[in-house]
Amino acid sequence: MDEEEVLGTARIPGNVGTIILLKRGDEFILRVHDTELMTSAAHLSEDSLSHLVCGRLKHLEAPTLLIGGLGMGFTLAAALASTGPQAKVVVAELIGAVVEWNRGPLGHLAGFPLKDPRVSLRAGDVAMVLQTELEEYDGILLDVDNGPEGLTRDSNDWLYSNEGLAAAYSALRPGGILAVWSSHRERSFAMRLAKIGFAAEEVRVPGDPTNPDERHSIWVAKKP
Ligand SMILES: C[S@@+](CC[C@H](N)C(=O)[O-])C[C@H]1O[C@@H](n2cnc3c(N)ncnc32)[C@H](O)[C@@H]1O
Repeated sequence: MDEEEVLGTARIPGNVGTIILLKRGDEFILRVHDTELMTSAAHLSEDSLSHLVCGRLKHLEAPTLLIGGLGMGFTLAAALASTGPQAKVVVAELIGAVVEWNRGPLGHLAGFPLKDPRVSLRAGDVAMVLQTELEEYDGILLDVDNGPEGLTRDSNDWLYSNEGLAAAYSALRPGGILAVWSSHRERSFAMRLAKIGFAAEEVRVPGDPTNPDERHSIWVAKKP
């Protein structure tokens, strides 16, 4: 096993701990609270998050998407590749250092997607965007934790609460799609989405090209 090299560390806003950027051989890792938040070794399901949403919005020439958060930029790059020149993609990222790392040592992984002129960056909590914007987005793609509960920080729990999901519903245009990434299944989450008014399904997608048994979940929820 290759040794881990620490490339950077940063405080998570809210003073709730540290995010660490590590390199192990060719692999890059974002780690929070001793848990892997993202690895460059496997991003099939992060790509699928975009493919599932953009596939359902194909009829729109100029969709507006919100992605939270940036991570290593794979979901963003897949969204840019799946939409046309008139698309707009807003990326909300909580941790300033993650943005810096994407402009530096992580940038090559997903082809420096932040440089694409269709992208605009919101530095801060995606919850703030959801709370302040009304019928602004055709797609909202959430991959800020490892499932529908706060991992990066406990206050992210709000995003998956009835209140947070209702805010996402309000931020979507009619016919818009909310998609939420998870490393694991959680049967009650589709019911929670339905309670808000979404038509929701859980889609199981491949997670790791070297392990066909590894599957992740993406909830795809449509606002009528
Ligand atoms: C699992 S990574 C995202 C991986 C990404 N889908 C990719 O393709 O690389 C989670 C990201 O969400 C960010 N994040 C966590 N909580 C957030 C919040 N409340 N608002 C915005 N970004 C957040 C983290 O800093 C991290 O960059």
